[in-house]
Amino acid sequence: METNRLLKRITQHQEMEALVVGQAIPNLQAGAKSLKRLKRLLHGMMRTINKPHALPEPLSLTALLFSRSNWPLVDEALDLMLECELVYIKNHAIHSPFTATCIDDIMIITDHDLPNDKQPQWFLDPLWEAPHLARYMIQPAPGFATLDVGSGCGVLALLSAKRNKASHVTGIDLNLRALDVGRFNALLNGLENIEFLKSDLFTSLKGLKFDLVFFNSPTDDEEKFETLLRSGSGILAEFFSALPEYLGENGYCQINFAVNESLADPFSDRLRKWLSVHSASTWQAHVYILEDRETKNSERWIRGWLTLRRGARGFFMSKHYQYDQLAYRASTEENINHIFDAMNNWSESGSYQIATDWWGG
Ligand SMILES: C[S@@+](CC[C@H](N)C(=O)[O-])C[C@H]1O[C@@H](n2cnc3c(N)ncnc32)[C@H](O)[C@@H]1O
Repeated sequence: METNRLLKRITQHQEMEALVVGQAIPNLQAGAKSLKRLKRLLHGMMRTINKPHALPEPLSLTALLFSRSNWPLVDEALDLMLECELVYIKNHAIHSPFTATCIDDIMIITDHDLPNDKQPQWFLDPLWEAPHLARYMIQPAPGFATLDVGSGCGVLALLSAKRNKASHVTGIDLNLRALDVGRFNALLNGLENIEFLKSDLFTSLKGLKFDLVFFNSPTDDEEKFETLLRSGSGILAEFFSALPEYLGENGYCQINFAVNESLADPFSDRLRKWLSVHSASTWQAHVYILEDRETKNSERWIRGWLTLRRGARGFFMSKHYQYDQLAYRASTEENINHIFDAMNNWSESGSYQIATDWWGG
């Protein structure tokens, strides 16, 4: 489209009130036909920008529109994005408070990344880790009830719903805006086996049991991070103490977490204590240590992806590759098989053990 024609179109639209990153909500009333077409257009436009084999990256909607090779699609895409309230026009310029990312053919709209001190109260995780986590998630079987705790823009819930349409997924969050953005993403991707509910951890789910529970927890380096509504290791204690009541007998839980770790107070001890609060079960755990560094007082800080289930008594922590290395090494299926093998072959006799490389030994 020629620049003049584009400018003319822009002025035809009434100036919308500025929508700000962390506050805008897409239009949940947009028609199914428009959404289907928009998803196809976004897909097509991304193909011209994304590098082959790279991990999916959130892309600014305005950058997508104005990438030179997307020029022929701009007219139609702009109309649809305006209808869905994903972009707005101000002072003859197009802006968008959202980004788009495509993982496994699921199109995910969420916020742009912002510095910690600039994140508004209703800010959504801009997919800091989800593209990596997507590679380690257990796939639901038909009939599975899956729960995504702290669903944010809905990314893990959407992936699960897409991976098995004969399963049901519930996404919960305390952030009301997250629930609406999750609902929009479900509509955009035509997924019907998914719902989003307000809940403070499990509190609105009394009496329910889930076969799969995912939680990309709002925990990071405690000295640097204090947002996403609630962060900090306290939430892990609450989550793991309640989990046994909501995880089905043969269920799996997968959680992305970050904690401080010391020989005097190892995370594995804390975890076992939390899990045993309301449950006589024994548990099996497998952790990919994804980041691991020394803290000021010579203790450690770790980030990991933990897979947990009831089972033979054992606690196995394996330090594995960094995210990116792992992402290039293996497919999701191989990763998950690796986790299952590690869990299934763990001997009952070694009731509790931490892999020696945990401490670099
Ligand atoms: C790290 S983000 C993960 C978002 C999304 N699952 C993802 O992977 O991009 C953590 C999410 O947990 C939510 N959260 C924080 N405290 C919560 C609580 N007590 N109950 C439910 N959700 C909570 C935040 O609002 C945020 O959306």
